[in-house]
Amino acid sequence: MTDAIVLEREGSLLTLRLNRADKKNALTRAMYGQLGQALREADADPGINAVLIRGSSECFTSGNDIADFLEEPPSDLDSPVFAFMRSLLDCRKPVIAAVAGPAVGIGTTLLLHCDLVYVSADARLRMPFVNLGLCPEFGSSLLLPRLVGHATAARLLLLGEGFSGEQAAAWGLATEALPSAEQALAKAREVALSFDQLAPAAVQVSKALMKAPDREQLRQVVEAEAALFVERLRSPEAIAALSGFINKR
Ligand code: COA
Repeated sequence: MTDAIVLEREGSLLTLRLNRADKKNALTRAMYGQLGQALREADADPGINAVLIRGSSECFTSGNDIADFLEEPPSDLDSPVFAFMRSLLDCRKPVIAAVAGPAVGIGTTLLLHCDLVYVSADARLRMPFVNLGLCPEFGSSLLLPRLVGHATAARLLLLGEGFSGEQAAAWGLATEALPSAEQALAKAREVALSFDQLAPAAVQVSKALMKAPDREQLRQVVEAEAALFVERLRSPEAIAALSGFINKR
């Protein structure tokens, strides 16, 4: 068992804290497994009203562990990363994210599925899938163009351009940008705890209604992206780019 994911319970709030500072909170198969399981348990637990996903004040996450991608790439939809995606898509409780520092790859795309996202203004978000010989994942090829328009989405997904927390809030990808990391983490916790004061069933029915129109299409897109992503991970260009990151260390 690893402490790379720390589960903290505060009243009816469950916090999932990414805690692998030496690797910038890069997500391993084991971490996806723990995150997925925690989300499923939170979903089933009537004592939990909200889930908060956070990293540290220095880093949200550098995305998928690149060594893992090379050594044990996901092979099918049962892989921990895709099971985690399904658990987040299926979570009926409100999910809040607190983001400071880098949020790379899935660190950005998972935010598209959270209900409320608080970022530090100087957070650094990026989806460098093409730069790694990969392709968009977790519904980003559908949700991002819809949110920011094709022209801007092309900069983010076809060029892999990074952007700030402030820009994320301006685009509506984040709920609010706060002046500092500490303020972003504090605000996210305060909002997440406030679900204690709201009728849980009313909140969950409301979330379900908001998600329902896109649910089936999103599920299909996530699966189609996953199949191509798995294929791309085995491509010579992805192996060269991923090995390049590891070898320059
Ligand atoms: N997978 C595996 N290890 C990673 C990692 C990742 N995604 N991101 C960072 N690390 C490791 C580095 O190899 C380094 O390990 P080392 O100290 O053993 O050499 C350590 O974490 C610190 O990373 P470093 O790059 O020195 O930190 P930084 O503050 O200069 O930069 C990032 C932080 C997140 C901008 C940079 O690490 C980065 O771009 N990471 C890769 C992100 C990525 O492409 N993710 C995959 C998306 S699909």
